[in-house]
Amino acid sequence: MTAPDIQSRKDGEKICCMTAYDYSSGMIADAAGMDLVLVGDSLGMVVLGHEDTLSVTMDEMIHHVRATSRGVKRALLVADMPFMSYSTVEMALENGGRFLSEGRAKAVKLEGGENVVPQIEALVAAGIPVMAHIGLTPQHVARFGGFKAQGKTLEAAKALVEDARAVEAAGAFCVVLEAIPVEVAELITKAVDIPTIGIGAGNVTDGQILVYHDVLGLFDRFTPKFVRTYVQHGKEAVQALEMYGKDVRSTRFPGDKNTFYLSDEMAEQVRKIKIKKKK
Ligand code: KIV
Repeated sequence: MTAPDIQSRKDGEKICCMTAYDYSSGMIADAAGMDLVLVGDSLGMVVLGHEDTLSVTMDEMIHHVRATSRGVKRALLVADMPFMSYSTVEMALENGGRFLSEGRAKAVKLEGGENVVPQIEALVAAGIPVMAHIGLTPQHVARFGGFKAQGKTLEAAKALVEDARAVEAAGAFCVVLEAIPVEVAELITKAVDIPTIGIGAGNVTDGQILVYHDVLGLFDRFTPKFVRTYVQHGKEAVQALEMYGKDVRSTRFPGDKNTFYLSDEMAEQVRKIKIKKKK
């Protein structure tokens, strides 16, 4: 998948997107037929255990994007630009370039609307496709006073439409709408010709994205209303490790099938080796 492939799906078949953070989650998302895989800075919370996404660094992101790129063969791989990595056009170009050359991503995502137009224009002009992200942008959580839905007043709804139009005009190939009332998401989706990818924006957007750990039940510190968890892998993993622990303590593991054996003749010789006791 390429950025133009995603862009051409406006009003077409829904675009399925998922986050992934390493080789194995990238491979799983790709095997499941995701169209777009985002190495989100949400990894700060679900992989690195931070309170929010603000402490994620460029070097950490590059490390995870490189690993994920080895597992993703078909989907469009997008790297999320972390907090303060695109504060100026120069920084956006340098860091966006690193994601493509070092990380092997095919596009970048950044948070913001009209305020990041110069950065989007410069990245696109440099040949770096940009996925925009408006609404509840987690890097601005301090300004929002928490993880709260956005666009709930007439003014705020209109401002979101203007943000979406601004990132479209700047050259973004799609835009994430996070935690926005469905009526506002519909208005935005109709107002722009690029696909909207919703997360907590109802079923009116051109595509959906969720966080891998939320979908698979691997992160339960908090689960936003808009998440659907399809399997409880976290609980299953604890049960599996408990079973392993019991087997080790009771010597049921390792069993014959997990054990290497010598030939009878060699085993006999090894048994005869005399070992001096340590003093
Ligand atoms: O960081 C992230 O995972 C994201 C998506 C949830 C859109 O920004």
